[in-house]
Amino acid sequence: TTPALADRFDREATDLRLSLTDFCNLRCTYCMPASGLTFLNKEQMLSAEEVVHLVRIGVQRLGIEQVRFTGGEPLTRPDLEEIIAGVAALDPRPDISLTTNAIGLDHRAARLRDAGLDRINVSLDSVVSETFERLSRRPLLHRVLAGIEGARAAGLDPIKVNAVLLPGVNDHELPELLDWCLTRDLQLRVIEQMPLDADHIWDRTSMLTATDVHGLLAERFRLTPVDEARNGAPAELYEVRERASGDHRGRVGIIASVTRPFCADCRRTRLTAEGRVRTCLFSREETDLRAALRSGADDEAIADIWRAAHWGKKAGHGMDREDFVQPERPMSAIGG
Ligand code: GTP
Ligand code: 5AD
Ligand code: SF4
Repeated sequence: TTPALADRFDREATDLRLSLTDFCNLRCTYCMPASGLTFLNKEQMLSAEEVVHLVRIGVQRLGIEQVRFTGGEPLTRPDLEEIIAGVAALDPRPDISLTTNAIGLDHRAARLRDAGLDRINVSLDSVVSETFERLSRRPLLHRVLAGIEGARAAGLDPIKVNAVLLPGVNDHELPELLDWCLTRDLQLRVIEQMPLDADHIWDRTSMLTATDVHGLLAERFRLTPVDEARNGAPAELYEVRERASGDHRGRVGIIASVTRPFCADCRRTRLTAEGRVRTCLFSREETDLRAALRSGADDEAIADIWRAAHWGKKAGHGMDREDFVQPERPMSAIGG
């Protein structure tokens, strides 16, 4: 029997989040500094072949069932189709999803779907151009919207929309954003900002909480919790009704990573774009797999390094502890 990716707290990781690059064509304030970062070069990043090889080890030796590609922005990799096709050809075949800003997706969605992409989550914090630009520091809302339309036209379903709420920036637009998503059959998930910004300006006392989200939506919508098993998923789901008419409009998710952490049921392991295991978004250590891979180590030896790293996974992010220290690297470099 092959020992799966277990940790000391009785959890097993079945979800792999793999960052394909630390580069992005946006500069969202909560994820990257305005100036960008010193991005990895091609030699430092895992090649398409190396990505598929590590995912193969994950699915064949460690019990990985779902693979999500993140970044930076994974669409900035020209070989994304090749990577997805390679992963889709694995036996057993994992579920394959992508978290993306959707820029350029209009031209690639059909090919990505044909390669084996099952689902996408699109990061979109505002549908108002000025707000989008203030948040992402780039005037590219129209390209994101075109990308979402392209994904829909290609038949990708479901499409989820991730919105991080920032006080005084996009919070007042929340009812409008939810209405916009529901009209298009997109599932909005409203996300509590986590301390992963480059400028370290996150502040627990001013961040918008899940409770605030309920308050912001309450005037226009009535939310009732969905009674379904969550299975380690970060989002708490609600049915949405229009208060005035009582009409059922769809669902919304709230991801309360800070105020209602779901770490006790965490099923995640992560790989950075340069092939290092991170057991948690907030871990202080990373464990290199790339060196072993490039030196020709056999699959079981690499699986063992991964297992040993995962055994050290902490109970949770510990944001509420006195000694909590924000990770040095921002979200874009860790992998979303
Ligand atoms: P599905 O449920 O499969 O659709 O994906 P997901 O929600 O896990 O992935 P996605 O990349 O869309 O991430 C959504 C949000 O979850 C992110 O914006 C983060 O705020 C949060 N998130 C992602 N990964 C982690 C994690 O490892 N820990 C915590 N606490 N939050 C995370
Ligand atoms: N806090 C919460 N979510 C974040 N994301 C990026 N940075 C943060 C942060 N500091 C989100 C993006 C993307 C997802 C992978 O992570 O919006 O949708
Ligand atoms: Fe899992 Fe760490 Fe995220 Fe908590 S913060 S859910 S332990 S990856």
